[in-house]
Amino acid sequence: MKNTKWIRLLFVPLLLLASCGDNKKIDRDVVDQVNKANEVKKVTESEITDYAMKWGDEISQEAQVELIGALQKAIEDKGVPGAIDFCHLEALPITKKVADKHAVNIRRVSVKNRNPENSPTDMEKSLLDAYAYNVENEIDNRPNIQKTENGEVLLYTKAITIPGGLCLNCHGEPGKEVSDATFEKIKSLYPADKALGYKVGELRGMWSISLPKKEVVKNM
Ligand code: HEC
Repeated sequence: MKNTKWIRLLFVPLLLLASCGDNKKIDRDVVDQVNKANEVKKVTESEITDYAMKWGDEISQEAQVELIGALQKAIEDKGVPGAIDFCHLEALPITKKVADKHAVNIRRVSVKNRNPENSPTDMEKSLLDAYAYNVENEIDNRPNIQKTENGEVLLYTKAITIPGGLCLNCHGEPGKEVSDATFEKIKSLYPADKALGYKVGELRGMWSISLPKKEVVKNM
C-alpha cells in the first residue's frame, strides 16, 4: 500500500514535467516567430525616417516629372485653355498612377486650392502654414517627415513654390498672365477656384505623400 502511494506521488510531478515539456515546444515556436519578425525590423526608427525622406524625395520627383511632362505636351497640343481640360481630367489620375506603383498615397494640397479634392487636412494645413512662414521669412524649406496613425504611416511633405512663368499662365493674375479664355475655362470647371493671383517664388502648395511604415521597411 505504502509503495503505490509513493509511486503515485512520483507520477504527478512527472506528468507535470511532461506537459511542461510540450508547452516549451510551443513556446519555442512562438519565440522563433517573434525573432524572425524582429530580424525584419532590425532597423532603427531614425534609419526608417531617413529612408522615408529619401524615398519621398524620389516619389515626389517622379510624380512632378510625369505631371510637368504631360502639362507641357498638353499646352503644345491644345494651348493653355485646352490644357486646363487636360489637367482637370488627368492631374489626379497621373499622381494616382505613380502612387499605386509604389503602394503609397500621393496628394498635392494647397490652402488656395483649385480642385476641392486638394484641400488640406488639419495636419497638412499646419505644415503648409510652416512652409508659408519660411517662404515669407526667406528660410530654406526642407522636406519634412511626420509620424501619423500611431507611427504606422510616415507623412512626407515638400513645399511647392511657383518656379517660373509657365505656372502663371494658369495661376497668375487674370487679365495679366491669365488670358480671358483661360480664366473662363477655369471658372467653368472650378467654380470654387482659389488658385489665381500667384507670383514667382510664392508657396503654391505642397506634396503630401503618405508612406506606410511597412512599405518603407520593405524597401530598405
Ligand atoms: C494649363 C494650366 C496650368 C498650368 C500651366 C499649371 N497649372 Fe497647376 N493646376 C491647373 C489645374 C487645372 C489644376 C487642378 C487639377 C485637378 O483638377 O486635379 C491645378 C492644380 C495645381 C496644384 C494642386 C493644388 C490645387 O490647387 O488644386 C498645384 C500644387 C499646382 N497646380 C501647381 C502648379 C505649378 C507649380 C505650375 C507650374 C510648374 C502649374 N501648376 C502650372 C492648371 C495649371
